[in-house]
Amino acid sequence: MKHETIETNAGWLIILTLLVISIGGLVEIVPLYYIDETVEDVDGVRPYTPLELRGRDMYLREGCYTCHSQMIRPFRDEELRYGHYSLAAESKYDHPFQWGSKRTGPDLARVGGKYSNEWHVQHLKAPRSVVPESIMPDYPWLVENKLDYSQIEDRMRALKAVGVPYSETQQEYQANVEKFGKDVADKLHIPKADQNLVDEAQQGNYDGDNSDITEMDAIVAYLQVLGTMVDFSKYDEGEFVEYR
Ligand code: HEC
Repeated sequence: MKHETIETNAGWLIILTLLVISIGGLVEIVPLYYIDETVEDVDGVRPYTPLELRGRDMYLREGCYTCHSQMIRPFRDEELRYGHYSLAAESKYDHPFQWGSKRTGPDLARVGGKYSNEWHVQHLKAPRSVVPESIMPDYPWLVENKLDYSQIEDRMRALKAVGVPYSETQQEYQANVEKFGKDVADKLHIPKADQNLVDEAQQGNYDGDNSDITEMDAIVAYLQVLGTMVDFSKYDEGEFVEYR
């Protein structure tokens, strides 16, 4: 059949258009029914604590994702450079996820624990002072700005509404204790979010100055947890292949 025949015949055009749309629709919709089977069953992944969550907000606000991806692909070269490839489970509580595809800078999916807090603070204030050839912008205001966490409870509630297991009632809290253990469950409890955030910032002292809680405290706390939740030494090499 010639293209002209289709374009000059409304009947054919409608039928073929519907055919194409329904195939496209199936390709998009059918996988949604199997989504649970494609997210790996793995221990350790938990929602972000209030401080980490605010840090993630800073990461989004500053547009770090425009240069950094957070998805290590299952290729030899990537695994050698960054570590185990990213699992779907590792970003299941990220809304929106930060996979990205633009890598002006390195992938950050497993940057947690790679450097000290001091390194991150110095690097974010003035990247070229630690990596002379860096083209990353300076973010000096992160140490100057006090962290605004007045909306932290609402932010957690918003994430809860889309399925992230933060707890509000005692029952939900108990469910989290069983799922994540008491220490983690405490930090996921919305009514205690303010106090938890303050405690975590004071104990972690991420920016090296405990007089104020700054945006730097939050973003470093966030960077330091990236990719560290799953203990890969517990799993065999081929463990996750079936999910790919
Ligand atoms: C214009 C692009 C660009 C932007 C925007 C950017 N970065 Fe970078 N980043 C880079 C480049 C290039 C490097 C590699 C050189 C270096 O280490 O400074 C890098 C390196 C890093 C590293 C070290 C990674 C490693 O494994 O060595 C971290 C951490 C980092 N960036 C965090 C951030 C954060 C957080 C933000 C947002 C506040 C951000 N970057 C914004 C380009 C960028």
